[in-house]
Amino acid sequence: MDMISPRKQLDTLWQRGRDFLGTEYAILGGAMTWVSERNLVSALSNAGGFGVIACGAMTPELLDGEIVATAALTDKPFGVNLITMHPQLDELIDVCLSHNVGHIILAGGLPGAPAIKRAKDGGAKVVCFAPTLSLAKRLIRQGADALVIEGAEAGGHIGPVATSILAQEILPHIEDVPVFIAGGIGRGDAVLAYLEMERPAVSSARCSSARPNPSRTRISRRRSSGRPPAMPCRRSSSTRSFRLSRCARCRTTRHGNFSRPSARSSTRSVAARSIRPKPS
Ligand SMILES: Cc1cc2nc3c(=O)[nH]c(=O)nc-3n(C[C@H](O)[C@H](O)[C@H](O)COP(=O)(O)O)c2cc1C
Repeated sequence: MDMISPRKQLDTLWQRGRDFLGTEYAILGGAMTWVSERNLVSALSNAGGFGVIACGAMTPELLDGEIVATAALTDKPFGVNLITMHPQLDELIDVCLSHNVGHIILAGGLPGAPAIKRAKDGGAKVVCFAPTLSLAKRLIRQGADALVIEGAEAGGHIGPVATSILAQEILPHIEDVPVFIAGGIGRGDAVLAYLEMERPAVSSARCSSARPNPSRTRISRRRSSGRPPAMPCRRSSSTRSFRLSRCARCRTTRHGNFSRPSARSSTRSVAARSIRPKPS
């Protein structure tokens, strides 16, 4: 039997991410405000990943200068992360487009459809953050070319749902666009686990601050070490051991907790509570 080299297997697993980014590795740099500037971004791109400038609170003039300076340090592709609440979002998008920035990452909240359209009409690919499955689908309908799902482990992130939970909620249902996973991913075997988790070549990990949060890492390990905790189904009296599996009695996959038409934050905190083991 022919042996396939580990590198070939990896390339197959994250091919879709590589194609999307145009890089050797499907590793999207998590932008960090005041940190992801020309030197870090160009170093990441030169090393085969995809560096991303964090615009943060920069003015259009400052962003313009940072893009020019980054382009002077690398001939590899890089992107720009824009915060959607920035009062000059449209001007910032235009600055990116004027420099032919290929990928614009709209972060810090849900982008409006006009911002996505503006970036796409100018020729850029748009990446958006999806905090729930329903919002992931909406962002794709609005034109997002790729999604990032980012768990509570992520530096500076305040959402309550862990990366592993979000991945299980969202990955199995998104086929149309590549999905990047962020939050608490600091080792190659964690990258591999997500790549192999669902539909090879759909997901790829994004490298960011590589700074594990010890307390949350402990919780993740405890959850993944044994059988997942049993979870009551709200529509029937049966219990299931995994929240995305189909309930044998009510035939739903979401067990009511996910299908509540409530606000995003409340849906997420309900989801987080629902998998917590009962104290013994
Ligand atoms: C200091 C700092 C600043 C950040 N600034 C941004 C930002 O401007 N835009 C953004 O989308 N994410 C920002 N993030 C989140 C990172 O891009 C990344 O998604 C996150 O750190 C990944 O999780 P990890 O820290 O567990 O690797 C920031 C994170 C840190 C630690």
